[in-house]
Amino acid sequence: MFPDFKIGVGTWAWGDHLVWNYGSDYDETSLFDAFSQSMRDGVLFFSTSETFSDGRAEQMLGNFIGKSAAQTFISTKFAPFFWRIRRKDFIKALKDSLARLHVPAIDLYQVLPPAGLMQLPLLAECMSDAFESGLIRYAGVSNFSAVQLEKFYGYLNRFGIPLSCLETEYNLLQRDIETNGVLEMCNQLSIRVIAQSPLAMGALTGKYVSQKDLTGIRRKFMDKYFSQNLQALIRLMNHIGSEHAGMNSAQVSLNWLIQKHVIPIPGAKNADQVMQNNQAVGWSLTEDQVTQLDDLSAVILKLRSG
Ligand SMILES: NC(=O)c1ccc[n+]([C@@H]2O[C@H](COP(=O)([O-])OP(=O)(O)OC[C@H]3O[C@@H](n4cnc5c(N)ncnc54)[C@H](OP(=O)(O)O)[C@@H]3O)[C@@H](O)[C@H]2O)c1
Repeated sequence: MFPDFKIGVGTWAWGDHLVWNYGSDYDETSLFDAFSQSMRDGVLFFSTSETFSDGRAEQMLGNFIGKSAAQTFISTKFAPFFWRIRRKDFIKALKDSLARLHVPAIDLYQVLPPAGLMQLPLLAECMSDAFESGLIRYAGVSNFSAVQLEKFYGYLNRFGIPLSCLETEYNLLQRDIETNGVLEMCNQLSIRVIAQSPLAMGALTGKYVSQKDLTGIRRKFMDKYFSQNLQALIRLMNHIGSEHAGMNSAQVSLNWLIQKHVIPIPGAKNADQVMQNNQAVGWSLTEDQVTQLDDLSAVILKLRSG
């Protein structure tokens, strides 16, 4: 049975210059503070990927785990790039991740969608070998469609391995999984959903009024989240938060996901952000408040698509 985590920490920004501007307003010291705060809060679940900063995020996480001798639960990802075609490519990538993370086994190993010859049946065989060798504890996938999920679930099932999790984008400004069959498939197959970019890369914190407040590639990535109505959503979240001991819009956004029974993994650059995000746990939006947020976000998404 997959542990009943309420929240985790995302590590895409750890060491990332390209999108997140690592080295500007945050660095390895502030990230270690973030990690330590998470340990103090009892939030042990960290999600990373071999692809984040070419393995640097995994390496930092491994160093932090080593420095603190902390008990953690680590998820990382395998990318079936087109040049990876054999079982030994899979095992090498897995062992490289283990070495960077300084752990004997990956708690949750997620496979990204196939991009070349390594297709789902072979990936399931590789996962099964890694399970038998004790190198992974739970199997997951990331950014799979409903069809891919069903197929991969079936392939793993032949080896008696459950598909525990799907990690994918889900937040108040991106709700595709509710309508494209992914959420339904996860519910049907008892697959836990882990929500990437739960704060819409920061847009749901209310810090950024428009794209103009951002620069470079991050601005391009976040373009899709901005609309005239974003501020109305932020105001609603702040109002709702005021009825819960002054929770801010980030905390309300994360609680909305928790009420949807998914595990948000907000990215954080320092201890304060981690502390705030972890305070999204331990209380609940009312049903009426969830509906108000559902409805306003649906209006925003409809206007955006139309
Ligand atoms: N393809 C993939 O594998 C993939 C893709 C996307 C995401 N993910 C996973 O999902 C995780 C989370 O997504 P994300 O990092 O894209 O974005 P996010 O969690 O939606 O937003 C994170 C950003 O929001 C700001 N922030 C966080 N907490 C805050 C707080 N309490 N108050 C104010 N600002 C706060 C920080 O940036 P600023 O301070 O600079 O505003 C932070 O870096 C990633 O780290 C990654 O693990 C994976």
